[in-house]
Amino acid sequence: MTDSPLQTTDRDGIRVLTVNRPDKLNALNAATLDALHAAFDAAAVDPAVRVIVLTGAGPKAFVAGADIAEMSGLSAVQGRDFSQRGQRMMRRLERMPKPVIAMMNGFALGGGLELAMACHLRIAADSAKVGQPEINLGLIPGFGGTQRLLRLAGRAATLELCLQGSPIDAARAHALGIVNRVVPAADLEAETMKLAQQLAQAAPLALRGILDCVAIGGECGIEEGLEFETTQFGLIFSTDDMREGTSAFLERRKPVFRGT
Ligand code: COA
Repeated sequence: MTDSPLQTTDRDGIRVLTVNRPDKLNALNAATLDALHAAFDAAAVDPAVRVIVLTGAGPKAFVAGADIAEMSGLSAVQGRDFSQRGQRMMRRLERMPKPVIAMMNGFALGGGLELAMACHLRIAADSAKVGQPEINLGLIPGFGGTQRLLRLAGRAATLELCLQGSPIDAARAHALGIVNRVVPAADLEAETMKLAQQLAQAAPLALRGILDCVAIGGECGIEEGLEFETTQFGLIFSTDDMREGTSAFLERRKPVFRGT
């Protein structure tokens, strides 16, 4: 591993981004937030990247939160700026035009859970622990945690996790709808890559249409959401991949999608 706070590897259309501060359990300092933001900007426009997997280096943590050492000395104005820096990065991630999978290999606490929740899909090792423990530091979540957890898991779970601050295990996170799947820790990488490969072979513009529809639909009323879906549905008929997908079905062969 290099000294960079973020490691990037590419394989068959899958970009793996690894937060790389294992000695600090991959805590998010300002440099790491900025590296992630730049990495999402780059992946968004790189046609070779079809799907992104986000994980943390080392055996213990996905991301154990915002960097407490860096935060401890901030003024109120600097605290707000730090929150905005994290929120902007996570919004960039949430609105990525390509699927982003969180591969949760251990602690996903505070900013770590916020980062995972901004991803589109979450697979957790059975050993992972998730939570919003900011209350134990006299803090509140500041990278979107109160808002995304509320939307993912509802008011009761959000208030429990944020007010009490105790981490929960992966099985309970799954029961609450916070993670999509829980797998044995030893299978996490293989299972995540299997999903990533499936998405990497899907039609990129259709994936994007779904991501956009769900993002917009989560933030507007049903009429506007349906209208948006109709427009996206019409637009997809202008793509080569839609012709390829429907023809391949009728010709009983496997489609090859090119993102055009
Ligand atoms: N920010 C900065 N450093 C962090 C960190 C964070 N969020 N989480 C862990 N670290 C650092 C520790 O300070 C320690 O550094 P050191 O070896 O230089 O002292 C190193 O990572 C290992 O952590 P440690 O606490 O020794 O590991 P542990 O196995 O005993 O405990 C946790 C693991 C996750 C329970 C514990 O690290 C923890 O509670 N972290 C903070 C979680 C949190 O509150 N996150 C929200 C922040 S807003």
